[in-house]
Amino acid sequence: MKICRLQDSSFTHADVLELIKESFQQWQENGLDSVLLRYTPAEFEQNTADAVVLVAIDTESNELIGTTTLVPHRSNHEVGGYHKYLAVKPSCKGKGVASQLLKSCVEVAKSRDYSYILSNTSVHADWSVRWHKKNGFKIIGYFVSTASKYFCYRFRYQLKSPSIWNSALCAHVAFCASYLKTRAMRTQDGGMTGFGNAVLKVFRSLKLV
Ligand SMILES: CC(C)(COP(=O)(O)OP(=O)(O)OC[C@H]1O[C@@H](n2cnc3c(N)ncnc32)[C@H](O)[C@@H]1OP(=O)(O)O)[C@@H](O)C(=O)NCCC(=O)NCCS
Repeated sequence: MKICRLQDSSFTHADVLELIKESFQQWQENGLDSVLLRYTPAEFEQNTADAVVLVAIDTESNELIGTTTLVPHRSNHEVGGYHKYLAVKPSCKGKGVASQLLKSCVEVAKSRDYSYILSNTSVHADWSVRWHKKNGFKIIGYFVSTASKYFCYRFRYQLKSPSIWNSALCAHVAFCASYLKTRAMRTQDGGMTGFGNAVLKVFRSLKLV
């Protein structure tokens, strides 16, 4: 297997999206929706225009067997990346392809002096949650995906140290605060709870939002 940037391969955005859709059938089979299943190649290309799209290729068959994307991200004084569109061909799952893709992603992130990599997944996608935990991501947030109508975990992979994010306690506190805020304010279908609406009304009257 070799991993390279999409632009350095013979594959196109349409090929990568086809692989993503095939891989994300796992979501549908588990009763989960994903906006990726409705993407067009043009939308995928547009959404990854400033990103690094990595592809894993089986060197014997020259088949596309996996992909992931690192999108630049900024928060406060730090620069990092968002790990998105991770997908492995169904027949190649469980062989370390996704872990190898992450390794390459980390190399790209380090070469750009990124401090962190963020990633999201549905709380119901057990296989993905387990993969993230096994591969060094810490759960730091909880939010609702309005497009797909499910609660999601936000993960952080810390690249630089020392940092408060190296502390398990910090990640835990951030997660708890985010969980309580989201569960108090938001419903799973992306709407606001009664409490959320009341808080919003107060904030609006104080011109804070
Ligand atoms: C998640 C995904 C990318 C993992 O790819 P992979 O190449 O099979 O993963 P790796 O071989 O690197 O790692 C295997 C680990 O992932 C987790 N995992 C993968 N499939 C799993 C499953 N069906 N059930 C539970 N855990 C699973 C486990 O931690 C496993 O290690 P373990 O068996 O020792 O516990 C792949 O299952 C996939 O493409 N799924 C559909 C798309 C998706 O969910 N993408 C993530 C979106 S954020």
